[in-house]
Parts: sequence; structure tokens; C-alpha cells
Amino acid sequence: MPILTIETTCDETAAAVISRRREVLSSVVASQEKLHARWRGVVPELASRAHVERIIPVIDEAISRAGVSKADLEAVAVAVRPGLVGSLLVGLSAGKAIAAALGLPIVGYDHILAHLYACRLAHGDALRYPCVGLVASGGHTSLFHVRGPLEAERLGGTIDDAAGEAFDKAASLLGLPYPGGPEIQRAAVGGNPKAHRLPRPLANDRERLDMSFSGLKTALRYLVRPPGAAADTPPPEGRARADLAASFQQAAVETILAKVQLAIDRTGCTAVAVGGGVAANTCLRESLEALGRKRHVQVFIPPPALCTDNAAMGAIAWERLERGDDDGPELDVTPGTDRAAANRR
Ligand code: KG4
Ligand code: ZN
Repeated sequence: MPILTIETTCDETAAAVISRRREVLSSVVASQEKLHARWRGVVPELASRAHVERIIPVIDEAISRAGVSKADLEAVAVAVRPGLVGSLLVGLSAGKAIAAALGLPIVGYDHILAHLYACRLAHGDALRYPCVGLVASGGHTSLFHVRGPLEAERLGGTIDDAAGEAFDKAASLLGLPYPGGPEIQRAAVGGNPKAHRLPRPLANDRERLDMSFSGLKTALRYLVRPPGAAADTPPPEGRARADLAASFQQAAVETILAKVQLAIDRTGCTAVAVGGGVAANTCLRESLEALGRKRHVQVFIPPPALCTDNAAMGAIAWERLERGDDDGPELDVTPGTDRAAANRR
């Protein structure tokens, strides 16, 4: 019998129904992009209110699209960390209410490990452990030594902005809407990635698996609006914008790539699992695949819809349910960070 998975860590309200064989019977994602667009970033209070409005219709839709009824469910699973506390609590409350009403077990799962599990959904057992894990999203950019679906040691990651956050800020500087990642990707088409030499902080540091994106963002800001320029300087357009977008994208991708390479060297792993919204980026995907060919390493990247936030990747909860776990009504959220979240369960 299938399980219901619920995802409300940030600004997507999502639910899915997943069979024990990890088949995605349905996956519904209600995006809040339009709601947050005018603020050019996620406003936590608006996000939790929107989750409250949408969570029940989204769950109902997932159950009905799967062609099952609530009575057919075997368990409920909820992403309980990391994320925005107000958002996490909405998913948890809905999950607990359903589990209590139906007398079902409930388990929490880690959103970051779930991003990596999306590779398992897309590629099945072809993904072997141990492997290097890269999660690059709007809230996180981290590298892991992944020993199993539920076991990952954080090796390093951003020391300031997440990669997706940098894409979002860069888009805003270029006068493009939120979310910025897809916009930068589109704007970069036809642009010259070598037009501007933007910084790749820490990329040449072979000691650390850390990354930094805030200097890149600041460098772009000064190109768009040099010191002394009027605050209302209009954002660049046409060719100038394409070159800036392409140069930014290239720098962000190379920053990530350098550390993936270092993580492969350090761990000796022959596979890399990639997840998170930024993994939807074509330039990053192509660069990672080229790296894999060059280093004879298998690179697993889910299709874009499984990279951005969704509840299908909550299939990871089966790994806990199969060993008999049940968190029961005491289950709680841990907003925290991926530093704290990885390595648990
Ligand atoms: O994983 P995700 O949906 O949510 C979080 O867990 O944060 O990631 C969202 C982030 C946003 O910052 C968005 O701009 C970025 O992923 N993103 C992209 C692309 N599509 C989404 N960044 C670069 N290129 C893309 N094509
Ligand atoms: Zn995410």
C-alpha cells in the first residue's frame, strides 16, 4: 500500500503518493512563486499563510490523482527539516492530523537527503553508495559523503549565500523576476560567458570544500551599478544583460564544479548524486556531466521537476518505514540548517 508524503519546507506546498516500489503514483506541487515575486524572495510569513490555505487541497489532489483513497494509505511522511519554521509546522500539523485520524504511522524525513534521493527515484539502483552528494538550492549549497540514503556526512558547502540565492539576487540586479535561476539561464543564452571576469572565491583552495557566492554577487552589483552611479540607474538590457548573465552563470557553475572535483578526489567515490533547484540549470548539468566523462565518474542528476522542491522525493521515507520506524505524535520540526540535519537518521 502506498504512503502520503508532504513537503512544505519553504515556498512550495507539495504532496505525493508513493508505492513501496518507489513508484510515484502522483505528485502535486503548488508553487508560491507569484506570491513572493514582488518581494524578489521568499517572505516567511506569507509562505506559511499560503501553506495553510493550500495544504488540504494539495493533499486531496495527490490522493485523487493517484487513484487511491485515504483508506488505502499505509503511512504518512513529512519533511521536518531543514526549512522555515512556520512553513514546516503547517506540513507537520496536516500530516499528524491525517495520521491520527486514520490510525497510521508517521515518519519525518530530511529535505536535503530527500533532494539526493530524487536521484534514486530517477535512476533506481544504478546509483550506488558511497557517492558524493551535491545539493544546490535556494537555501542550501552543500557537499556530502553519502554512505546510504539516510546517511550523509557534510564535507563542506557555502559559507555565505546559497547558490540559488545568488542566482535570485543576480536576477534582481539585472531587472529580472523571481525566482532568478531560470531567468538568468534564459537571459544568458547567446551571452558571452567570458565577457566579464567575475570572482570564483575559494575555487582554487584545495584544502577546503567550502564555497562562497556573496563576493560574486557583489562584483555583479558593481558592474551593473558602478560606485557613484545613481541609485535609479536602469538595469542593463539586450547584449549587455546577456553577457552579464552568462558571465555570472559561468562563475557560479565553476565555483561549484571545482569543489565537486575536490570532493571526488578526497573521497575516492566513483559516483556523484546531484539535487536541489540549481541542479535544474542546464549549464551546471552539462558541466557536471562533462566532469563525469573526464574523471570516469557516474553523475546522477534528476530531471528538472525532481530537482526543484517536490514531495515525490519524500519516497526516502520508505527507507525508514521499511525498517519499522514510527515517530508517532511526538514528531517535531527542526528548522536548523543542513549542517545539523545531515547525519541524522
Ligand atoms: O530546491 P529548491 O526548489 O528550493 C529550496 O530548497 O531552496 O531551489 C530553489 C532555487 C531558487 O533559488 C531558484 O532560483 C533555483 O533553485 N533554480 C535555478 C534554476 N531553477 C531553479 N537556478 C539556476 N538555474 C535554474 N534553471
Ligand atoms: Zn529544496
